[in-house]
Amino acid sequence: MPRPHVEFLHAQQLPWVAAPFPGAGWRDVEAKVLSRDPGSGACSALLRLPAGFARGRHALAAAQEWLVIDGAMQRGALRYGLDDYAWLPARHAAGGWSSAGGAVLLAFFDREPGWLDLAGAAAAPSGPDAADALPGAAPIERIATHDLPWTSHDIDPAVQFLRLTHKVLRHVPATGEKTLLLSTGAQTHPRDWREARLAHDCVEEMYLLGGDIIGERGVMYEGAYFWRPAGQWHGPFGSRRGSLSLIRFCEGRHHNIWSDDVQPFTLEPAHAPELPPALRGVAGAAWQPPRY
Ligand SMILES: [Fe+2]
Repeated sequence: MPRPHVEFLHAQQLPWVAAPFPGAGWRDVEAKVLSRDPGSGACSALLRLPAGFARGRHALAAAQEWLVIDGAMQRGALRYGLDDYAWLPARHAAGGWSSAGGAVLLAFFDREPGWLDLAGAAAAPSGPDAADALPGAAPIERIATHDLPWTSHDIDPAVQFLRLTHKVLRHVPATGEKTLLLSTGAQTHPRDWREARLAHDCVEEMYLLGGDIIGERGVMYEGAYFWRPAGQWHGPFGSRRGSLSLIRFCEGRHHNIWSDDVQPFTLEPAHAPELPPALRGVAGAAWQPPRY
């Protein structure tokens, strides 16, 4: 069963709950699950590590990808501070995981992230297997994203009315998987306030790290999230104050397919999200930061 269409909610609308993942290592970790595949347990979530969090040698059953959006943590010999990023394959052994002052991670798992405690184990949970030879299986231990340069290379000129720049954090050419930070300019909108809509042959997933993005389903602010299945028409888009988002293209290759029709763009669209029934009550209403 595929992951349901979630477009969009604000993470602030969801309560923190005990991380709903198997294994004692997850105790005391809180989560806001943004989307989840009910078959595989693959999910995207905010994770909150409490101050004083400390775990020993372990691995997770899932490939894990995350960005530290608040606080800092230590994983093995590496320290991860604000906006540091990593991607690690399933069953990747870690020497330890701790956070003295607490941390919040924007995290993505490709299946249910069961906790595998390796305390006392002499070696990795199992040696390299066929999965380790798959394209994109090489770990990305840490990227200090602030040190990457912004570029507009490879961005479709037809969407540059948004003044887009990006930093590609991970790209697997063999599968098309791509994770990037994307910035839009402030006071951007389509020429003549109208534009064709877009679709892709892959899933597009986004978490808005700051600013605003205005689209046909409403206004997204910091904390906005969507999981948009392949083939969904979207846009046109613009922004009042600019934006920074983390985007993932999954389950295919990203390229832009333009509609034949043209749609108007407005700074004040009606709120019209698409959410699975379980999320409509808690996250179906429009949300915006406190005003003045
Ligand atoms: Fe898109």
